[in-house]
Amino acid sequence: MSRPLTSATADAHGGTAAPAAATAVGHEAGGDAVLRVTDLTVDFPTDDGVVHAVRGVSYALSPREVLGIVGESGSGKSVTSLAIIGLLPKTARITGSVRFRGEELIGLPDKDMRKVRGEQIAMIFQDPMTSLNPVYPIGWQIAEGIRAHHRDVSRAAARSRAVDLLALVGIPHPKERAANYPHEFSGGMRQRVVIALAMANDPDVIIADEPTTALDVTVQAQILETLQKAQQETSAAIVLITHDLGVVAGVADRVLVMYAGKPVELGSVDDVYYRPRMPYSIGLLGSLPRLDAVDQDRLTPIAGAPPSLINLPPGCPFSPRCPLRQGVCDDEEPALRQTDGQAHYAACHFSHTLESEDGVPEGLFSATSADFSGPIAIMPPTGAVAPTEGPQS
Ligand SMILES: Nc1ncnc2c1ncn2[C@@H]1O[C@H](COP(=O)(O)OP(=O)(O)OP(=O)(O)O)[C@@H](O)[C@H]1O
Ligand code: SF4
Ligand SMILES: [Mg+2]
Repeated sequence: MSRPLTSATADAHGGTAAPAAATAVGHEAGGDAVLRVTDLTVDFPTDDGVVHAVRGVSYALSPREVLGIVGESGSGKSVTSLAIIGLLPKTARITGSVRFRGEELIGLPDKDMRKVRGEQIAMIFQDPMTSLNPVYPIGWQIAEGIRAHHRDVSRAAARSRAVDLLALVGIPHPKERAANYPHEFSGGMRQRVVIALAMANDPDVIIADEPTTALDVTVQAQILETLQKAQQETSAAIVLITHDLGVVAGVADRVLVMYAGKPVELGSVDDVYYRPRMPYSIGLLGSLPRLDAVDQDRLTPIAGAPPSLINLPPGCPFSPRCPLRQGVCDDEEPALRQTDGQAHYAACHFSHTLESEDGVPEGLFSATSADFSGPIAIMPPTGAVAPTEGPQS
């Protein structure tokens, strides 16, 4: 049901659309990309200063691909997605480019953006009630969601499709349940209804922002399964946002790790899980329970907290928490650059050193904030490529 968009000339969000750079890092999906984000930045002017919430995000999403976006609270995951679908407050200053099937979305007038939302790009939020209206039956809401984009579909046909969708996402007795109101469902069932709503217009992209975070573990797994079913049914590409690297493990094709508003690692699930090249990703993995761990007797959270996005100091934003930091890290922010795989990127001055297992010190994040006193010296393995830039102290 995808329809070409008109080219954007107006700027609804005070943003500037940059020309799409086909060669940007993270654009390896090539010309087939259904969604292409290029050097996206979002600033929020506030009384305390400008919050640099998103500081240059680029990725290209292939048809049917599942991209997991992972990072701690405040890393810019939601703001990136809200910028893509044009739901940021008017005060937000946006630059960069978001192209859906080649057409620019940044600056698209609201009425055109409303057509994109739901019909071509659907969004699933953490709280299902963000998407559901408490005063209408759920079947009616799904049917209206269909008719909002397709007035030629009769009410009866839309109602029938709504029941089919409810069955597909696993709502028992869907015909009867279609007449119920959102409060008559459990949290997990409500999230299934929202997935049905997202599927209603057969979108090309579904962005799911922490869709399982508020649910208990068993229900989380069911919702992820339902999301996979939605993907098979619609052939949509999915952006799955979560703070939990474990959630994306079984679902995503690629993973983008974000820190302080920027991508710091991008690669296949195997790249990021088995060959992490950025200490923050290594730290995230260390705080994840693993069934294959043989000698890990406790989880090791990353000590410290992410920096303020108002007055970011120069250098690597992860430096105050990084056991591998060296002098150069406080002087120069590392760019996202290719590391050992063709489509594996990391933003760390020492990612090449980490290319050998010997370059990752044992128990990298075992120090806590109480006993952490300083950086661990890296011993580059024999034959390893030296740090890519800047002098070492
Ligand atoms: N309207 C706004 N005005 C000012 N700052 C904002 C606004 N919206 C978001 N921010 C800031 O932007 C940064 C990124 O927020 P974002 O919601 O994208 O984080 P997140 O990675 O989704 O975190 P979480 O995991 O908690 O959902 C945060 O520092 C947040 O406080
Ligand atoms: S650039 Fe330096 S501080 Fe940043 S992650 Fe790499 S080693 Fe750590
Ligand atoms: Mg968020």
